[in-house]
Amino acid sequence: MSAGLRWGVLGAGGIARQFAEDLRSDGLGLQAVGSRTREGAERFSTQLGGIASVYGSYQALVEAPEVDVVYVATPHPLHAEHALLALRAGKHVLVEKPFALNAAQARAVVAEARARGLVVLEAMWTRFLPHMVRLRELVADGALGEVMTLVADHSQQLSADPTHRIQDPALGGGALLDLGVYPVSFAWDLFGAPLTIDSRSVPTATGVDRQTAVVLAYPGGAQAVLHTALDLAGRNDAVVLGTDARVEIAPTWYAPSTLRVVRPDGTVLEEFDGRGPGRGMQYQARELERLVREGHQESPVLPPGESIAVMETLDEVRRQIGLAYPGE
Ligand SMILES: NC(=O)c1ccc[n+]([C@@H]2O[C@H](COP(=O)([O-])OP(=O)(O)OC[C@H]3O[C@@H](n4cnc5c(N)ncnc54)[C@H](OP(=O)(O)O)[C@@H]3O)[C@@H](O)[C@H]2O)c1
Repeated sequence: MSAGLRWGVLGAGGIARQFAEDLRSDGLGLQAVGSRTREGAERFSTQLGGIASVYGSYQALVEAPEVDVVYVATPHPLHAEHALLALRAGKHVLVEKPFALNAAQARAVVAEARARGLVVLEAMWTRFLPHMVRLRELVADGALGEVMTLVADHSQQLSADPTHRIQDPALGGGALLDLGVYPVSFAWDLFGAPLTIDSRSVPTATGVDRQTAVVLAYPGGAQAVLHTALDLAGRNDAVVLGTDARVEIAPTWYAPSTLRVVRPDGTVLEEFDGRGPGRGMQYQARELERLVREGHQESPVLPPGESIAVMETLDEVRRQIGLAYPGE
């Protein structure tokens, strides 16, 4: 067990279990779980081989004095509400992606964290993976020349059950917010604010986006060509094109992966293997622990302001494709 933070998991669902496993295997301090029901929390604890504190409500979890940081792993429309719950109880928060349902909610969360001097970090785990760290170094060092293009896809064949959260408008369903957020966040990481956003989409029978394509254009002529689908098993690779070299990220680009740096004549300049133990969700947790330990509130790798900006881009894509969620 580390001498670091004591983590509480809010929402005992699928990704929460994987995150908790990564925390444990990385030696980080999984302390508590909170579920809407006592049974849900107990079940989660059993699946994890036992967790010290088990709470049958989210309120009890965020108020627990032995919890330092809350990981919010509920469906997207609840991220802001649950992040605010934790912040108002004085806890740092790691909030699953998408950071919120929309930019307005994202702004409210960030304002609360700043007002309270607490750390808030979006759990866009991809940003913190070793191969993405290496990619940022290559770009910063000028190894690619002028970076002109990103082509990235995130397509998975997920549940066709109309009541599954991926299909359900009430739970923020659709490819864009669940999967498309990855390539959109990648484009923000690489190029910053887009000059223009152009989107096309096809809906599911339930009225969320089934597949969506987005082209982002930047000052200086760079372009990001992004695609996402929720019922197609994609290759899920990504390529960054520069004037001097390209970077090919092998499938699955948004999880721990490998990359190759290739010159225009085909010469391979570098092969980097960023694969490691676990699912790869531990790096973001370590980053949050570092921020707290060193007295910072915002990660330079993914500042909260950029999580808001990503939501603004997703809002604009949704405006263009006519996708609004209940209550918006
Ligand atoms: N980082 C990643 O790789 C990754 C992967 C998958 C999903 N995610 C994100 O994580 C979030 C959760 O996804 P998931 O796949 O883990 O979903 P999930 O398996 O359905 O779990 C969500 C949990 O939220 C809680 N919850 C609270 N209110 C709910 C409601 N009204 N309906 C349903 N559940 C409710 C439930 O926990 P209790 O019953 O215990 O309260 C439920 O188990 C999503 O925002 C998704 O985008 C991230």
